[in-house]
Amino acid sequence: MNQKKIILSGMQPTGKLHLGNLEGALANWVRLQHDYHMYACIVDWHALTADYDKTADLDDKIVQMAIDYLAAGLDPKLCAIFIQSQVKEHAELHLLFSMITPTSWLERVPSYKEKAEKLGLDSYGFLGYPLLQAADILLYRADYVPVGKDQLPHIELTREVGRRFNFLYGDVFPDPDALLTKVPVVPGIDGQKMSKSYGNEITIAETPEETAAKIKKMFTDPQKLRKGDPGRPEICPVFALHQLYTAKDDIDRIDRTCRSGELGCVACKKELADHVNKALEPIRARRRELEGNLSFVNDVLADGAKRARERAQETMAIVREKMHLR
Ligand code: TRP
Repeated sequence: MNQKKIILSGMQPTGKLHLGNLEGALANWVRLQHDYHMYACIVDWHALTADYDKTADLDDKIVQMAIDYLAAGLDPKLCAIFIQSQVKEHAELHLLFSMITPTSWLERVPSYKEKAEKLGLDSYGFLGYPLLQAADILLYRADYVPVGKDQLPHIELTREVGRRFNFLYGDVFPDPDALLTKVPVVPGIDGQKMSKSYGNEITIAETPEETAAKIKKMFTDPQKLRKGDPGRPEICPVFALHQLYTAKDDIDRIDRTCRSGELGCVACKKELADHVNKALEPIRARRRELEGNLSFVNDVLADGAKRARERAQETMAIVREKMHLR
């Protein structure tokens, strides 16, 4: 008998994993997989809510994401790694939820208006984005969902939809809780939050030389123009990355010598690049190995889908019975 609680999380296959995804989410999943029954979903249907016109390389992005998951340390024995569109029950549950969810619940999700305007999206599927996410989570009757703070409104909607279903048809879904970790905000090379949409990311898939070149170009304290000028580590994105990748004693020294002016940005960046590359080295090595063994990656995805489907079909059998559907 398996007493472990169930966790589900997902990421859109939008491109190659960067340090923000790695430190903010994946590193946490890797820790959680030992204590929970974990489902790691690659949410390709969600990616279509924005990129419906760019599907030619979607499959490649999915495989790259699976490689990133595995390289970062997700263990396919502990965790079902699968593609959302391979488990059709996500679509069925989403459809049934769409019948019981007032449109106003979706319109008031904060990301909706903001993104609709920014990205010029007005499709039916885009409005339903958080409802599809609710289906992802409730399909596995997950207890916890490890996500960043930005996803809290989606988890709240998930709970509301689950409760509404339970009220209408009888108890099926537990109330899932977000598992928030102290997610560091990882700055990108321009100092804004690291994000694919800003094009400021450092990826796992790139070479150490590419990483070093990006770090060399990073923004720093604009008042520190040359070595000798006193710097302000607290506003410097290079220093923020040191906090994640550099040992405590070295951080203290960097803080001190930056403020005094002794330490120049060139040397500080060089030191950071070395540390980032060192931390990524084992992940990059696994990545290369997996790139050369795509049949293994595809087997992992097939097996993950099979395991996910088992749980999903169990849930849908209960759902249909409660709703008096054959
Ligand atoms: N909306 C999530 C994000 O942008 C992705 C996602 C889709 C997800 N389905 C999920 C996250 C289910 C957790 C659980 O990051």
